[in-house]
Order: sequence, then structure tokens, then C-alpha cells
Amino acid sequence: MENQFILHTPVSDKEQLIASWQAPSNIALVKYWGKHGVQLPANPSISFTLNGCKTITKVTATKANDHSFEVLLDQVSKPSFAPKIASYFKRIARYSPWINSYQFTIETSNTFPHSSGIASSASSMAALSSCLMDMEGQLTGKPVDVHKTSFLARLGSGSACRSIDGKLVVWGEHKDTQGSSDLYGVDVSEKLHPIFQDFQDTILLVDKGEKTVSSTVGHELMNGHAFAKARFHQAHNNLTAIKECLYTGDLEGFIKITESEALTLHSMMMTSHPYFILMKPNTLSIIEELWKYRKETGVPVCFTLDAGANVHMLYPAAHKEAVEHLIKSKLAVYCQNEQYICDVIGSGATTV
Ligand code: DP6
Repeated sequence: MENQFILHTPVSDKEQLIASWQAPSNIALVKYWGKHGVQLPANPSISFTLNGCKTITKVTATKANDHSFEVLLDQVSKPSFAPKIASYFKRIARYSPWINSYQFTIETSNTFPHSSGIASSASSMAALSSCLMDMEGQLTGKPVDVHKTSFLARLGSGSACRSIDGKLVVWGEHKDTQGSSDLYGVDVSEKLHPIFQDFQDTILLVDKGEKTVSSTVGHELMNGHAFAKARFHQAHNNLTAIKECLYTGDLEGFIKITESEALTLHSMMMTSHPYFILMKPNTLSIIEELWKYRKETGVPVCFTLDAGANVHMLYPAAHKEAVEHLIKSKLAVYCQNEQYICDVIGSGATTV
């Protein structure tokens, strides 16, 4: 129930509050694609939390008669971010009413390059929610509830709720995941097999341009989609199966589900109305080279995709050197300016 997150504790009277947090991006293995109501997922999803790709945010709140805010990215004012943040504040005011009597300055920066095609909405909404919950803690004197932080982050961007706490996070009600909820992400990394504990994610930047279809529009296209029912059902089963692989260290099973999920996500886009293709020719060239390499060498490297053309290569840390060599010799040519980002699994948001 949403109501559990409404703040009832009296808050102290503070003229100024300051909080600084960093939150990473995450990469979904079973994808969230389709939503209803206010940011409720059509199916449960699971993701690896990243480490290096993150947003660093400092929020300063000053007591005022009305609520207002200003956003700066790399110290430059960003009025273009205002509508998204305004609707976020509007959604969360019911749960944290104290925000109505503060004026906020949000200073933010990302560790990944500008317009790299890496979605910053997950890490930025996770970092902002962490700052606000930190402030709520300062006002109530009570420890922060990570589920509420994740709950608030979800109201900013669905996938952001998976960037708060834990290496492996499930968001969405799922019968085989104890404690799972449509309202927030839950850490399910307790039994994560050692081989996945330091799994690598190298992001090949195929196309750094702006997304041609926003995820909000994409999610909407799942309403009335011919294959929606089967897809949502499949996600539940894939989640049960991939968790088993992640806990037992079954790389083969992991690869099959992860790659199938990526291709299913894009199949949904290709079969919606309007239909669209977000992969680029170079995306497919990379997938072909990766499959050829895996077949020839047996190195357990696989790919996944977000709602874009970039390819995330996932593999065990033990194969770092070999995969790095593959990328340099064969795959970098398919990337814009030969750019790629090496990342590894991390554990979520931290105070700065
Ligand atoms: C393809 O979380 O960006 O990356 O809730 O509208 O902000 P909104 O969507 P968003 O969607 C992410 C979709 C995805 C798959 C995933 O991360 O699970």
C-alpha cells in the first residue's frame, strides 16, 4: 500500500538542509517495458546495479513560503529538466509534505559522457530521491527507509527504483520473490553466486544521439499491444529462471535468458503501433561478432540492450583481458569514435 510511505512523524523546523548523494545506473536482465497507473510496472524486472556510471547530486533546501526548485547540470542552469522534476515533486509531495515549504537547488553531474545514449534518468532520479530522503531523516531524526527512497525514485523514473540498494534488484510483484513489490525495488543479491559478484558490463557506444522514442512513449505502446499478455507472462517465468541461474552460477542459462530478453524488448518495439527500430546496423554487427567469438572460444560473454542502439557486454571478471582484446581488435570500430565504457557491478546509492 502506497499509504505506508506517507510521512506522519512531525518534522523539526530547519532553515536550511543540505544533502549530497551519488547513485548508479542499472542494467536490466529481465526488462521493464509497459506500465499502468502511476508508474506501476506491467511485469516484474531484475537488474544488475552498476558502479562507475553514476549521477552525483547535491541538494540545498531553504525554508520558504512556497515550493520551488532550480536544476543545474555541471553548474549550468537546465530549465529543460524542469517539467520532469516538477511532475516528480508533485507526485512525491503526498508522501513527503515538508517539500512544500522549501526552495530547492539541485546541482547534478554524471560520470558518463554527455549524450552517450546512456539513460541518466535512473541514476539521476535515484540520486535526487536519496538526497530528499536524507533531508527527511534530518527533519525527523529517524533512520532512512531504503524502500521509501526506492518508492520515491520510482515516481521519477520506473527503473530508478532499482538503483538504490543492492547489487541485484527485483522490482515488481513476483510470486517467487519474497517481499517483491510493484511500489519499490528489493535487494535480492544475498544468494548471488560468486561468479556474478564482480560481473563486468562494457557498454559499447554505438549511437550517442538522442533517443528517437522516449521510454515513456515506448511503455505506452504496450497498452493494447498484440503480444502484451504473452510478454508479461513470459517476464514472470524468465525472472524465476534467471534468479536460479544467478544463484547457482549457471552461465549458460543466464546467457540464454539475458539475450532473449534483450531481443524480446526490441521485438516489442518492432511490433507496436507505431512500430520502430532502435538497433542500428552496427548493433547487429557487434551481436554477430560476439556470437562468433563465443562459439569459437567458449568465453561466456553475452549482450543485452536498453531502449537504444548501444550494446552492453556482460561477462565474468576472469575473462576481462580476453574480452578487452576482442573489443579493441574487432568491436570498437562499430562504436561512435571507438568509444566504450567499462563498468562492473556495484551496490547502489551512497552519500558523498
Ligand atoms: C528499456 O525507467 O526509463 O531500460 O518509468 O518512463 O522513466 P520511465 O521508464 P524507464 O524505462 C526503462 C526501460 C528499459 C528496461 C529496464 O530498464 O527495465
